[in-house]
Amino acid sequence: MKIVMLGAPGAGKGTQAKKISAKYGIPHISTGDIFRANIKGQTELGMKAKVFMDQGQLVPDEITIGMLLDRIQEDDCKNGYVLDGFPRTIPQAESLTKALANMGEQIDYAINVDVPDENIISRMSGRRACLKCGQTYHTVYNPPKTENVCDVCGEPLVLRDDDKPETVKKRLDVYHDQTQPLIDYYKKAGVLAEVDGTKDLEAVFQDIVKILGA
Ligand code: AP5
Ligand code: MG
Ligand code: ZN
Repeated sequence: MKIVMLGAPGAGKGTQAKKISAKYGIPHISTGDIFRANIKGQTELGMKAKVFMDQGQLVPDEITIGMLLDRIQEDDCKNGYVLDGFPRTIPQAESLTKALANMGEQIDYAINVDVPDENIISRMSGRRACLKCGQTYHTVYNPPKTENVCDVCGEPLVLRDDDKPETVKKRLDVYHDQTQPLIDYYKKAGVLAEVDGTKDLEAVFQDIVKILGA
């Protein structure tokens, strides 16, 4: 099963992708997490990506597309995957469609987690992230068992550098401009499913399970 998660920054793509990954036994692949792991490890890729991410801009397609297409060739992707944060531009979607078509494959579901902009800013200011395993928490809606410590791997949690309100506004603009058109792209491909992302996170997940099948 190959799944693409669509939705604005903070819509809950990562939160739901982790749950899908656990239930269906497929890897969760987040381009944002890959970039953040590279920033933490101070790799060349990380240093390049950081300049764009800190401004709320997209990392250029030349860097992102090759990285993602390499990742989905790895062994753990044989039975599918859930992509979170990719594709984010029409050229990214077209590259993915083409690469899959060359292998006789296609995306099975594109799930749009729909949340209006008004809800986003408050979600982001309460978000805490684990830079080691990519798990996300919310101080109110989804707190970790121990304050500021990742339940999964024990790392200290951080507020992401791009979660400042000004940067979140910029990311929302970039989303509407460059990423929202993907909803139509996947609708035309006949694989779009929409869920109401304003519900609580378990209710959103149940709606997704109805789409994917138990
Ligand atoms: P990325 O890491 O993908 O960030 P994003 O798309 O902006 O999305 P977020 O991770 O902020 O939100 P999310 O939808 O995953 O929400 P979450 O589940 O955490 O990308 C970061 C940057 O990297 C980009 O700006 C860009 O520069 C670069 N980049 C990445 N991919 C790229 C690409 N393909 N091309 C170019 N550049 C790329 O939830 C948010 C908060 O809300 C959490 O605190 C969570 O606990 C809480 N929450 C979740 N669901 C609910 C709910 N139902 N009710 C209440 N609270 C909830
Ligand atoms: Mg995320
Ligand atoms: Zn962790």
